[in-house]
Amino acid sequence: MFFTKFFMRYRERSQKIKACIFDLDGVLVDTAIYHYRAWKKLAQSLGFDFSKEDNEHLKGVNRISSLKMILNWAGLQKSEEEIERLAELKNQWYKEMIGMMNAGHILLGVEDFLKELKEADYLLAVGSASKNAEALLMKTGLRHYFDVVIDGTVVSESKPDPAVFLKAAECLSVDPVCCVVFEDAQAGVEAALRAGMMVIGVGKVEDLREACEVVSGLHELNVKKLCSILKENAN
Ligand code: G6P
Ligand code: MG
Repeated sequence: MFFTKFFMRYRERSQKIKACIFDLDGVLVDTAIYHYRAWKKLAQSLGFDFSKEDNEHLKGVNRISSLKMILNWAGLQKSEEEIERLAELKNQWYKEMIGMMNAGHILLGVEDFLKELKEADYLLAVGSASKNAEALLMKTGLRHYFDVVIDGTVVSESKPDPAVFLKAAECLSVDPVCCVVFEDAQAGVEAALRAGMMVIGVGKVEDLREACEVVSGLHELNVKKLCSILKENAN
């Protein structure tokens, strides 16, 4: 019922996508691996470990919620104060890991695709749960491509809550139905669907089954291919 409603809306909007909203970590920049490594280091320091498959559930989820999920998997209980301290420790490690990041860490094909979208007059936004998003966009030189950046400092609800994408659409003054989202996270795909937006997965099909199309990276896309995906999913 839920999904039927959204697939029917796809039909209406095929020709009128005006805005592209990009997740940041793992879609635009190669940082998903550093979040994973920093969480793994923290988990191991608590005598626990988790797999790459488990990590798929953490992608797109904000810092505190991710930590609570890890503690839950480990069967550990911590006070709110300790949770804050552990989250800060993970962030320190993560920031050390991304300290040297520059334009070389932009994922393959990203800049070509963004340039082409801008030339074709699409509005562009970032929709990320990260509080480090603005810093990363500046370090990599990507900030100027985006009309709007909605991140974890603007929206406190974590994906799969649709708030981050709805806020991006609102700031762009575009109806959610006229937005397409690019996401590498299961939680992000769900958030986009709950926002009533079409979503293209970036990663593996088996991790992102609900996306209307999955590509291994943005290097597989250009405006022509995007239009044909939008059209295919409209019928
Ligand atoms: C992104 C990543 C998550 C990360 C979250 C918060 O959504 O996919 O792995 O936990 O941002 O990032 P932050 O930089 O604020 O800790
Ligand atoms: Mg991501």
